[in-house]
Amino acid sequence: MSSCLIYLSMCLAIGTSLGVRAADDDFQGKPITETCLICMCEALSGCNATAVCVNGACGIFRITWDQWVDSGRLVVEGDTALSDDAFPNCANNPRCAADTLQSYMVKYGQDCNDDQQENCLDYGAIHYMGPFNCKADMPYTYESIFKRCLKGSQREQQQRNLN
Ligand SMILES: *[C@@H]1O[C@H](CO)[C@@H](O)[C@H](O)[C@H]1NC(C)=O
Repeated sequence: MSSCLIYLSMCLAIGTSLGVRAADDDFQGKPITETCLICMCEALSGCNATAVCVNGACGIFRITWDQWVDSGRLVVEGDTALSDDAFPNCANNPRCAADTLQSYMVKYGQDCNDDQQENCLDYGAIHYMGPFNCKADMPYTYESIFKRCLKGSQREQQQRNLN
C-alpha cells in the first residue's frame, strides 16, 4: 500500500470514484473494492499515475483499447467516445480507468479459481489474463505483488478492527 501513500492523488481519485457509490447504488455496478483496485494498480504499475501507454496499455491499470471498448468507452469530461484521445485520456485518468474496470468486471466477472466466490483474486486474473484465460496461472511478479498487497491490506483491516 506504500504507493497509495506516495501517489495520494491517485488514491483520492479512486476513492472518489468509489465514494460516489451511494448506499442505494447497485453493488452489481461496482463489483471491485477500493482495496482491490489499489492492489491491482500496485501490481501493474506501482500505481504510478504519470500518464503513460506501454505497448498500447495505458494508465495505472494498463488498460487496453479492447478493454476500454468492451467496457462501454467511458470518457473523461470534455471528451466524446469518438475523440481521438478518448481512450488514452480515460485510461490515464485514475477515476475513469477504475470505472472502466468496474464496468469490465460487471460484464466478465466470474469465479476463475473455483473457490465458489467471485472476488478480487478473480478480478486480478481476469484483468491481466483476459476473461477467457483467467483460470491460468498469473505471471509470478504480478501475482506476488498483487497478493502481498492484498495480505497487507487484510492485516491493516484486522488491526483497525482490534483498535
Ligand atoms: C512514473 O512513471 C514515469 C513514466 O514511466 C517515470 O518516468 C517515473 O520515473 C515513474 N515514477 C516513479 C516514482 O517510479
